[in-house]
Amino acid sequence: MSELESRLQQLRNEINQHNHSYYVLDEPTVPDSEYDRLMQELREIEAAHPEWVTADSPSQRVGGAPLESFDQVQHRVPMLSLDNAFSEEDMRDFERRIKDRLKTSEAIQYAAEPKLDGLAINIRYEKGVLVQAATRGDGATGEDVTQNVRTIGSIPLRLMGDDWPEVLEARGEIFMPKAGFEKLNQRQRDLGEKTFANPRNAAAGSLRQLDSKIAAQRPLAMFCYGLGEVIGHDMSDTHSGNMALLKQWGLPVSPELKTFNTQEAAAEYFEGIAQRRDGLEYDIDGVVFKVDRIQAQQQLGFVARAPRWAIARKFPAQEELTTVEAIEFQVGRTGAITPVARLNPVFVGGVTVSNATLHNMDELKRKDVREGDTVFVRRAGDVIPEVVRVLTDKRPEGAQEVEAPAVCPVCGSDTVRPEGEAVIRCTGGLYCDAQRKEAVKHFASRKALDIEGLGDKLVEQLVDEQLIHDPADLFQLSVEQLAGLERMGPKSAQNLVDALEKSKETTLGRFLYALGILGIGETMAATLASELRTLDAIKALRLGDLVEIKASQGKSLYDYLLTLGNQRISLDHVPQPSSMKWCKPIHLQMLAERFQTVEQLLDSGAEKVANDPRIKIEGVGDILAEKVVTFFRQSHNQEVISKLLKAGLKWPENLPSADPEALPLKGQTFVLTGTLSRPRGEFKEELQALGAKVAGSVSAKTHYLVAGESAGSKLTKAQSLGLEILDEEGLKALLASL
Ligand code: IVH
Repeated sequence: MSELESRLQQLRNEINQHNHSYYVLDEPTVPDSEYDRLMQELREIEAAHPEWVTADSPSQRVGGAPLESFDQVQHRVPMLSLDNAFSEEDMRDFERRIKDRLKTSEAIQYAAEPKLDGLAINIRYEKGVLVQAATRGDGATGEDVTQNVRTIGSIPLRLMGDDWPEVLEARGEIFMPKAGFEKLNQRQRDLGEKTFANPRNAAAGSLRQLDSKIAAQRPLAMFCYGLGEVIGHDMSDTHSGNMALLKQWGLPVSPELKTFNTQEAAAEYFEGIAQRRDGLEYDIDGVVFKVDRIQAQQQLGFVARAPRWAIARKFPAQEELTTVEAIEFQVGRTGAITPVARLNPVFVGGVTVSNATLHNMDELKRKDVREGDTVFVRRAGDVIPEVVRVLTDKRPEGAQEVEAPAVCPVCGSDTVRPEGEAVIRCTGGLYCDAQRKEAVKHFASRKALDIEGLGDKLVEQLVDEQLIHDPADLFQLSVEQLAGLERMGPKSAQNLVDALEKSKETTLGRFLYALGILGIGETMAATLASELRTLDAIKALRLGDLVEIKASQGKSLYDYLLTLGNQRISLDHVPQPSSMKWCKPIHLQMLAERFQTVEQLLDSGAEKVANDPRIKIEGVGDILAEKVVTFFRQSHNQEVISKLLKAGLKWPENLPSADPEALPLKGQTFVLTGTLSRPRGEFKEELQALGAKVAGSVSAKTHYLVAGESAGSKLTKAQSLGLEILDEEGLKALLASL
């Protein structure tokens, strides 16, 4: 084995270890930067030696083109379901049945784990390598979701150690932790896209993505709770022992797994888990009790689709029946109109629920909820209560289907439903009181201008009394005006005016976020602010600055346009090329901004279409780019911004130098590779502050390659291109000479 090959092995082992510590043991062993460095090095070696790439390499978690559909998988051992128990009495019956069948009066040893609310999965390892992952399906046949399951960090692509069975099928539940679910929904909301009703739906939707790149961005996790086919290895004689083996091979197993041999201890465990339920990082809906001894399991066998040796004791209902008194539409900050069911109040999962979301028109139509209907209402954990389904046989005669509102219920403006979106929106913008209120609430919120004392109720009053029309009007409010409002007095009015004054001193990132541009969350606002540094630069953005067409894409687009012939048609009217999947209306729109017509573009030559060396901000996708540019183009937004500036809002505009053209490394492109004495990100920032561009890959356009220790393919490529290569010392010398 060559030195490079053994380095490759070493890297893979090390990365696998770090993954296991991070995802399975929840005890990170290295900082992210170090992990990134190892991955980078691995990728570089593999790029230089594609023949060494194996499916179980940690670099291969996301791979391949999107699928057309999922293949079917026949389960070699059927995937069963569980019977339910709802009380201690049910549990005693369960034990009695077991003792009767086993003809014993001796204590039964049980193993118990929380019942995860996710999806059952079977993952198959052959010779220690993950070869297939399949959903439960109908228990006999499932769907092949291997590509997506490979992206789940806690599932090893290769088992640890070497003492595992030739074939091992581990079974368990795939789920989405609550925190990840909240984040995902926030992102969906920021993008104006459909949110998921609960973590289970989000996990199911993610696992059923045909494009594993999307699945890879979803925070899925797994706990194993059983076995499927096992060949060529003795397993333990207990369930708990088997779980310990899985754990030893690097598979994730519930840390809550316990064993005991009395019903009292079982009841105690159940109560304990029930109490800790809300504090757990994932949703559960009960506890699964299993006879621990495998031999006893075998003796007990199955009835229908459930084993006699296991039972799921469910938590008390989080679903109740009630009636729908009315269906109303609520208007959010971005104009999104959400149908809401007003309910006859009902006690569910520990609280009284009188409103339940119906999510959007698609969901409403799918569930076909009507006024007067009897419905199941569900409340799970902290999730917003929802209508689960309708009991149609209880539907009152003449109940009408609910239609999407043609006009906004608050301001009467027309509504629209953008193509491909599930959401209907009010077009009223800040003319709509509902949007106005939400916009002001957002503006004042903690991550935006953080205006103390400006609560939701107050904002609603201010808008209702027509004291403000947009967020900028807040700064014109006088103590007298405020003191006259409900639940306000001279003192609180003065406090609010002071808080408003204080909030004027802010940061560009907060200001951008406060504007409430659709899709621009806190992080993106901060990125735009730190990359572009001034409001003027942000206002001046054009689509082309944010949406980049890569050289190879530019070439194929150019060729495509050539086939259309020399025409004077505007580029944004060109039919979208079906052969180029990446090409979306936004790309043609961007080209239209730069070249106007096909004729002019063809005149400029293919080179020009490719990669303009303008700013490209990482992470600003096409959709967001369009939203930012459109926002700043609209005159009513410009008006609000100029009012805000007049009111005295300010932030430090931290230009690195008065004249960016005068920076010493302006126009120089650097690529960093290998191990340096500090994280590469730090070097990158320093170089960028001096005006340099830091690229991710080496090309003829690179000026300098900074190569640290164990640099790989980039170094080889730079050498073959005859580029200037610096080691860390050389870089220091260069910087010192500036
Ligand atoms: S054992 C042969 N253990 O619940 C029995 N199932 O309602 C196999 N589930 O399809 C299941 N957590 O998807 C078992 N700790 C756990 C579980 C669990 C969740 C799911 C599983 C099963 C469903 C039955």
